[in-house]
Amino acid sequence: MYVCICNALRDRELKAAAADPSIKSAACVFKRCDAKPKCGRCLPDVADMIAATRIGTDDLPAAAE
Ligand code: FES
Repeated sequence: MYVCICNALRDRELKAAAADPSIKSAACVFKRCDAKPKCGRCLPDVADMIAATRIGTDDLPAAAE
């Protein structure tokens, strides 16, 4: 499902990027996906993905619709 509508980024792409231990922020996730945040509505969800990978949970934020 799409999380970032502006960049047509799906949860699996963002989650894979967020799982990289070198990723420090949502901006890093976007850079890894060769994209830049536009409206910013997805940033909390991307931050949650980073946090989820750090604590080992697979809970994903709700997708933007
Ligand atoms: S939904 Fe991701 S930048 Fe707009």
